[in-house]
This record gives sequence, structure tokens and C-alpha cells, in this order.
Amino acid sequence: MAGEDALPVFSLSSLGFGFSSASSPPPPPPPPCVEVLPSEVSASLSSPLESIPINDKLSLLKGRVNTGDVFAMPNSDLVPGKYEGGLKLWEGSVDLVNSLCSEVQGGRLSLLGKRVLELGCGHGLPGVYACLEGAAAVDFQDFNAEVLRCLTIRNVEHNLRKGRPRLPEGNPQNEGAQQVRFFAGDWREVHRLLLRRADDGGGRHLPGEASSEEHGSLSSSSSSRCYHVILMAETMYSLSSLGNLYDVIKKCLRRQTGVVYMAGKKHYFGVGGGTRQFLRLIDEDGVMEGSLLAEIADGSSNVREVWKISFKSPA
Ligand SMILES: C[S@@+](CC[C@H](N)C(=O)[O-])C[C@H]1O[C@@H](n2cnc3c(N)ncnc32)[C@H](O)[C@@H]1O
Repeated sequence: MAGEDALPVFSLSSLGFGFSSASSPPPPPPPPCVEVLPSEVSASLSSPLESIPINDKLSLLKGRVNTGDVFAMPNSDLVPGKYEGGLKLWEGSVDLVNSLCSEVQGGRLSLLGKRVLELGCGHGLPGVYACLEGAAAVDFQDFNAEVLRCLTIRNVEHNLRKGRPRLPEGNPQNEGAQQVRFFAGDWREVHRLLLRRADDGGGRHLPGEASSEEHGSLSSSSSSRCYHVILMAETMYSLSSLGNLYDVIKKCLRRQTGVVYMAGKKHYFGVGGGTRQFLRLIDEDGVMEGSLLAEIADGSSNVREVWKISFKSPA
């Protein structure tokens, strides 16, 4: 990546923001796809986590967790194929929470009883918001299991301890039924773990064999695991992974009724991705379409956007 002036700014953190050089060697094979259990929360953090209010319901547990401590590699925002930026809170995740709040308050979105997936979750604030708004199930996905163990699980537990998730009115038997799970893995293959039922055999790791869905047919059990809502913030920065990101969405989102809420920068200098590049891909595919919910040009970074992406109505 080019020099300092080409870097997207990360304004919520005093830490800098930068991607590795575009001329780096090809990335190593991705880490294995695995479910991370809440009990695997990392016990060893060098400094305490600080609680920062985001809105009246949600707070961020922010730690000084760096790539040096967690991955034993030089501190960096991105090491392609090894670490993809999840240890920092990026401003798009707060933009996304703000837009979700307006959608819910405006009656245009209800998360009650929904199956929700947050892709590329990092701290997982949008997914935590979905938990608090009464989603029936929220799955958090990150490239790195370490991010889930260090930050995501802690943020979920911290917020759910403080605030009671909204419950459907007149349906008290729903109490305690919310399911929250954590999955690590590359978008190229993590759908196979996400779409597998908890009780359909195998361990918490992805087995080596191909699934039927990879050959084009989703089994009815895996399609019932598809999500009503997919959330993602600042996941579309790299041109080279946009195709895999779109594929995992198409495999995991409920046909016709599913919606994606996406926040990110219009353009990421040096790595070529951005909201507009991702929307171009969607447009070319012709199955889904986006509508702009918010544009944030506060000078803290290049322009950021929040989009809602849904299936086109059948002609
Ligand atoms: C820039 S971080 C954003 C983190 C968080 N959403 C936020 O806004 O604070 C990008 C996220 O996408 C995930 N990610 C990037 N490339 C990925 C890939 N190829 N497969 C799976 N996850 C990936 C990273 O693990 C990371 O959580």
C-alpha cells in the first residue's frame, strides 16, 4: 500500500491504520474453520478492557490488544491470510449500529426472533445490538479465532449481562432461548460450518469432505439455517476477497426475504475495495440490489456509507 496519505483513517482508536504492502508474497493458507465456544474466552490479556458507551444500550469493551501480543507478529492492521484486522474497532461498525437503530426505531426493521449473522465481526457491536433487539440466534464470524476469544465473546457477554434482550410481547416462553455462537474461518469455506445444524454430526471443525451445497443444492436442513439478516462492517476493503464475500452471503442468506446491512468506506485506497466496488459486483450478478441508508463525511476518514442490500423482487 502507498504512503500515509493514502491510508483510511481509523478515528475511534489512537492506534494508526494501515495495510501491508500490495506487493507482499501470496498469502499463506487460511486458518482452519472452527466453532469457538464461549468457554474458550482468552484469559490472558496484558491490560484490562475499558468499557466505552456507544449508545444508551450498548457499550464497547475496548482492550489494548495488538497483533504482537496475540499473533506474535509485528503490530499491523492487516497481514493478508494471517490476520485481517479484527482486533481493532473500525468506525464502520458504529455507523452500522447507528443505522440499525434508526431502522428499528423507524419501524423498517425488526430483529425480534430473527436469525442474524455478523460477518467479519471483530468486536461484534452490530451483532451485539441484534442480540439486545431480541434476535433468536446471532452467529459471529471472524477470520481469526483469536479475535473471537480475546474480544468478541467478551463484548457479547459484557453487554448481555448489562442489558436484557428484548422479548416478543406475550411470548414469555422465549425467555433464555437466544442462541449465540462464534465461528472462525475464511469466507471461502466458513458457510459450510455456519449452515451445518448443531446436531448433524461431526465436531466443531470443518470436515474435509465436500458438502452437497457446494454442488449447487442446499439441503432443506441447511437452508433452514440460512439467515434473515446479515450484518457486516468494513469487510469489503480488499478487491481480492469481494467475490468470496459475496458468495458466502448468497449461500447463507434466506432467499428473497433475507437482507444485508453493510457499512464501510466508499473506497479503500491501495487495496482497491470499497462499498461501491462491492455494489458493482452485486449489480453485475443481477440478483440483489442496494439502497443507501447513510453517508458519513465527517472528515475523520474518507467517505463512509451504510447500505441495505436485498433481493430484487421477482419480475
Ligand atoms: C477491517 S476488520 C473490521 C472488523 C469489524 N467489523 C469492525 O468494523 O470493527 C475486517 C474483518 O473482516 C474479517 N475478514 C477479512 N477477510 C476475511 C476473509 N477472507 N475471511 C473471513 N473473514 C475475513 C476480519 O477477520 C475482520 O474481522
